[in-house]
Amino acid sequence: MLRPIEIKKDLFYVGVNDRTKELFEGHWPLPKGVSYNSYLLKDEKCVLFDTVDICYSDAFLQRLKKALDGKKLDYLVINHMEPDHSGSLGLLKTQYPDVRIIGNARTLDMVKGYYGIEDGVTAIKDGDELPVGVHNLKFYLTPMIHWPETMMTYETTHGILFSGDAFGTFGTLDGGVVDSQLNPDKYWDEMIRYYSNIVGKFGNPVQKALAKLGDLDLKIICSTHGPIWTEKENIAKVLALYDKLSRYEGDRGVVIAYGSMYGHTELMAEAIAAELAASGVKDIILHNVSKRDLSYVIRDIFKYKVLIIGSPTYNNELFPQIEALVSKIQGRDMKNRIFGYFGSYTWAGAAVKRLAAFAEASNFEVVGEPVEMKQAPTEATIDGCIALARAIAAKL
Ligand code: FEO
Repeated sequence: MLRPIEIKKDLFYVGVNDRTKELFEGHWPLPKGVSYNSYLLKDEKCVLFDTVDICYSDAFLQRLKKALDGKKLDYLVINHMEPDHSGSLGLLKTQYPDVRIIGNARTLDMVKGYYGIEDGVTAIKDGDELPVGVHNLKFYLTPMIHWPETMMTYETTHGILFSGDAFGTFGTLDGGVVDSQLNPDKYWDEMIRYYSNIVGKFGNPVQKALAKLGDLDLKIICSTHGPIWTEKENIAKVLALYDKLSRYEGDRGVVIAYGSMYGHTELMAEAIAAELAASGVKDIILHNVSKRDLSYVIRDIFKYKVLIIGSPTYNNELFPQIEALVSKIQGRDMKNRIFGYFGSYTWAGAAVKRLAAFAEASNFEVVGEPVEMKQAPTEATIDGCIALARAIAAKL
């Protein structure tokens, strides 16, 4: 049986780790697993914040029972209804039939739709408060981080923010659950990957939420994934990271994402990268999209200011994995990127035209002349790649 972990007086971690699932939401790789965090606040009233994925209900319910230690579970606050957090709701309700479910109108519609539960629910509105003893809860509606019902709950007495997906990371909690007990360095890239893959489309809602939370004194951030943030510098870092990512600001660096069936288009990518390096660009990431899962490519596109895409022509279209990539980029309303592109064909060129249309639709700043190659690189092809790289390096 998993024992609960005391985070601070009256506050317990009752979440679980998932080291089994290959793909989050059925399509994002989980090489380091993921945690589903749930928290119990014990006071005159006992409050549970979110549950966990249904696959882990048993371990979670045992942990919760141990944490309650005979006390009644009064409230379940649902900050987010995606089933990685609400999945254990049905079973929780069978074990704790008197628990009152707290959520906003959209949450309660989903509670009914997913779990058939209509009784024992209380709808709250933005700014409502719920005193539970020494502790007092205040609700902040933060739609689209990551679903429309998403909200955050701020414990006003000690400055604890139950933030839902926001400020979360992929990666399991391997022993320590609080940042002061672990080395957070292994989570930063996974936080960016989580943000870019899952929340990346919702930059404006994230900006609105950050403005809404701006005056709060945040002492502890309890997200539903990854470490609990308690150290001042870490709290500042996660807030700054969310601010930067949601404004689509990139660092000085270049992502070259390319497809290549027989290596010819890859030679163009190599030539561009070599010239960027010769021009003083140090952060250059090459992603062969046939090999690298797009989850990581998207992460790096969010990290860096310049994006260069290269694609062979395939069936008179973009290379399929490049097509998937541009669709994912457009689906995230990516902004503020310097963009360069190149492509290839054997008998009729389409890829470069399609990338031009993508650049225009995305409102990216196109820099340099796109390079189009027929069949295999010539000296002129490589000269074109060098010129493209120089133009981009000059812009950085
Ligand atoms: Fe962790 Fe949007 O669910």
